[in-house]
Amino acid sequence: MNKEKVGIGVIGCGTIASVYLKNIMQHYNNLELLAVSDIYIEKAQEMAQKYGVPKACSTEELLAMDEVEIVLNLTTPGVHYLINKKILNAGKHVYCEKPLTLSLENGKQLVNLAKQKKLLCVSAPDTFLGSGGQTVRKLLDNGVIGMPIGFTANMCCPGHELWHPAPGFYYKEGAGPMFDMGPYYMTMLVSLLGPVKKVSAYTSSGRPIREIQGTLVRSEVPTTYTGIMEMACGAVGTVTMSFDIWNANLPCLEIYGTEGTVEVPDPNNFSGVIHVFNGNELKSIVEETEGDHSAKLMTMIEKQTVCRKEYPLEYPADNDLQCNMRGLGVSEMAQALLTQRKARLSSELSLHVVEILNAFEISARSGEVYEMTTGCERPDPLEEGLALWEIS
Ligand SMILES: NC(=O)c1ccc[n+]([C@@H]2O[C@H](COP(=O)([O-])OP(=O)(O)OC[C@H]3O[C@@H](n4cnc5c(N)ncnc54)[C@H](O)[C@@H]3O)[C@@H](O)[C@H]2O)c1
Repeated sequence: MNKEKVGIGVIGCGTIASVYLKNIMQHYNNLELLAVSDIYIEKAQEMAQKYGVPKACSTEELLAMDEVEIVLNLTTPGVHYLINKKILNAGKHVYCEKPLTLSLENGKQLVNLAKQKKLLCVSAPDTFLGSGGQTVRKLLDNGVIGMPIGFTANMCCPGHELWHPAPGFYYKEGAGPMFDMGPYYMTMLVSLLGPVKKVSAYTSSGRPIREIQGTLVRSEVPTTYTGIMEMACGAVGTVTMSFDIWNANLPCLEIYGTEGTVEVPDPNNFSGVIHVFNGNELKSIVEETEGDHSAKLMTMIEKQTVCRKEYPLEYPADNDLQCNMRGLGVSEMAQALLTQRKARLSSELSLHVVEILNAFEISARSGEVYEMTTGCERPDPLEEGLALWEIS
């Protein structure tokens, strides 16, 4: 095997596997995809044939392959813990689709096992490594909006059964809007603002009965989560994650600072449009307005749009702002192994996110504020000027 590449195996050949396999085979040159498996072998065979993967086999065979160093777990959330444990026990690094585990306890077990075995064990998402998340990270670190003091994070959609071919798992334990979509928002927030300190939340089930492939099914999990998070840095913000809302006029993620506001692209995407609102510019315009206080008030209201400007993406990415770069985190992890540096996605980050997701459930059930017990460092930002497809 080429020494500049890390051998990869994929377990789980369902809906999301296609984009990973395509990107790994076409773009991420430091990854060598050696084998794929699925509980249904024919799904693995079909994917292997479609994307030119050399081997389709059982999970046991894949885990017995010496050349496989990182295993990408693309199974459904309910089996993540058991499969991740198998991967670690086979002596391989884990890159798991989100969430790493359903419970904090299982997450801690995995992280301890990985430490004992000197292996990496992390979960998606890797969208925060995209040009949107990295550009916002840089502008925050450069103080463009002053000190972050607040945020709002909103994921409002009618539910994945509208488009997913096998959406049943989204309404089972381990999914729902918080466990399914929360990881994108929480990982982005931790990358931008640092770890979470406290969570206070409510849940509800606005539309608990869903039509899943022609059958009416009752959701096992709440379908709306609303809460407040206090970050360790002191910023406080609101969070809404919902599969009940047909349409809403809310930003995906906005961060409020002492000197302005930044509108962050959708944390589920790698890229997107960034807007920065410059508070000092508005202040000067209002100060220079002639007339009494009502003239100044009108200027403050009318000139809002003048001070809101598009901020250019600073990391070269694909021209298509919706481009799906899934696999970037695996490539980043492989590069960390090849160059013996720290990987940006860490076990501590994945575990912290698992605790945040659970914190919403626990706070809503108990009616009390949940104090986080885990923490993590902010992942290091990417080097400037890096073309994202060429992270290797
Ligand atoms: N579908 C998406 O758009 C999307 C996007 C981002 C992340 N994800 C995440 O990716 C993961 C998979 O989602 P999906 O939509 O591809 O689901 P899916 O149901 O379409 O595919 C899951 C695959 O895993 C296989 N599988 C299940 N249990 C297994 C086991 N024990 N051993 C081996 N294979 C097993 C299934 O047979 C299936 O082929 C989830 O964690 C999900 O949150 C999905």
